[in-house]
Amino acid sequence: MWWRDAVVYQIYPRSFQDSDGDGVGDLRGIAQRLDHLVDLGVDAFWLSPIYPSPLADFGYDISDFTGIDPQLGTLDDFDQLVAQAHERGLRVLLDFVPNHTSIEHPWFREHPDWYIWSPADGPPNNWVSAFGGPAWSRDVIAGRWYLHSFYPEQPDLNWRNPELVEAMQNVIRFWTARGVDGFRVDALDRLIKDERLRDEPPATEPFPLPLHEDAAGLARLHTTNQPEVRDALAKIREAAGDAFLVGEVFLPTNEYPRYLESLDAVFAFQLLFSPWDAAPLQQAIADAAGYDVAWVMSNHDFDRLATRVGPENVRSAAMLLLTLPGPAFVYQGDEIGMANGPGGSTQYDRTGRDRLRHPMQWDATPTGGFTTGVPWLPPIDPDVRNVEAQRNDPESLLNLYRRLIDLRPGLGSRFRLLDAEPGVVGFERGDHVVTVNTTRELRPAPPGDVVLATHEDPELLPHAGLIVRN
Ligand code: NOJ
Repeated sequence: MWWRDAVVYQIYPRSFQDSDGDGVGDLRGIAQRLDHLVDLGVDAFWLSPIYPSPLADFGYDISDFTGIDPQLGTLDDFDQLVAQAHERGLRVLLDFVPNHTSIEHPWFREHPDWYIWSPADGPPNNWVSAFGGPAWSRDVIAGRWYLHSFYPEQPDLNWRNPELVEAMQNVIRFWTARGVDGFRVDALDRLIKDERLRDEPPATEPFPLPLHEDAAGLARLHTTNQPEVRDALAKIREAAGDAFLVGEVFLPTNEYPRYLESLDAVFAFQLLFSPWDAAPLQQAIADAAGYDVAWVMSNHDFDRLATRVGPENVRSAAMLLLTLPGPAFVYQGDEIGMANGPGGSTQYDRTGRDRLRHPMQWDATPTGGFTTGVPWLPPIDPDVRNVEAQRNDPESLLNLYRRLIDLRPGLGSRFRLLDAEPGVVGFERGDHVVTVNTTRELRPAPPGDVVLATHEDPELLPHAGLIVRN
């Protein structure tokens, strides 16, 4: 299976490369930059949603599952992108968003029973949206209340309705027939909700992943992670055939088994949210043992890697991410150390995620080579960090990513966490030992021949990572 140890590069299409000067990235732009992915050595890329969208949730509110947003291109551009990717040996993953559509999707009017409605003239329960506020809104046209686990512009689909299931299976088949190699599947723990729409009781213990304050006070018995989700997932798998399916499941790792009955992998969110500290990092890795997880340390929803771990740790974070066994996902820009930006003069995302989505920085020009026009979000610091400069610098972060990706296939498959020095994450991969020093202090280096070091000195310097071979 090609994805077993694959490195998958996440492209945020609006911010990767603009080809027509309108300031918004597009599919032709992505095709122009495929050589960057080849140069980096990744196996595949995942495109965040490229479908027509009114942009309430920047592409995750989809008004046509089998179209391309005109700002991003056409189906013809898409076919060409897939062909060009495949010619270069790159696999293509799309974002499949099964939980909801845009409120502007024609289905919402044509097939209201494909959605979830309140039986009362008002919210039937106390459920809250993941972004805060009630999870029910009144549709002024129908005069009824519908469920939305996310923004009100994103009504939840009813996966208990076989007609809807079939429609969504057809969406998957549409894309696999066009050559798509897999899907990142959105918000899966939400796919099935309690059929009786029972109230959530108050939370009795803190949820281990970050939640909006409105959601944090409630237990999560009826709004997420229902046992019947496995039936819905089986239907997704049935349509996807042997395409790679990686799930976004916002739950602690021990809840993954029912998802892994049908999915190939689930994102290891415990690692993404772990503080940059050896003990919780080791714990997140240990908790994932025995599950097929996809490692990920940042994406378009949460703080960028450089912001979360601090710029001094981006090299060792890359080493950790890319030496763990199993698929690893790299968010565009992390390979050059981009941090959160300031956002732009217009706030696009209502929950403040613009700062994670600034344009990719290709060169030192004012727009970073992203566009010849006015970028939809301003570039952050292309003069300080960009692909071109880092490509020419053997010691750059970009070149460290390349070396790590190059080394991956040579790491042994036998994996064992080590009882390392305090503040150090350590594990064996066959005859290689990986150590990552999360502290500000020097730590003893493990014995063996140095294969790759994040810093020049082959000691375990503060913030450094080291791969040795015995
Ligand atoms: C997760 C996506 O990554 C995020 O961007 C989106 O807002 C929600 N799911 C809802 O689709």
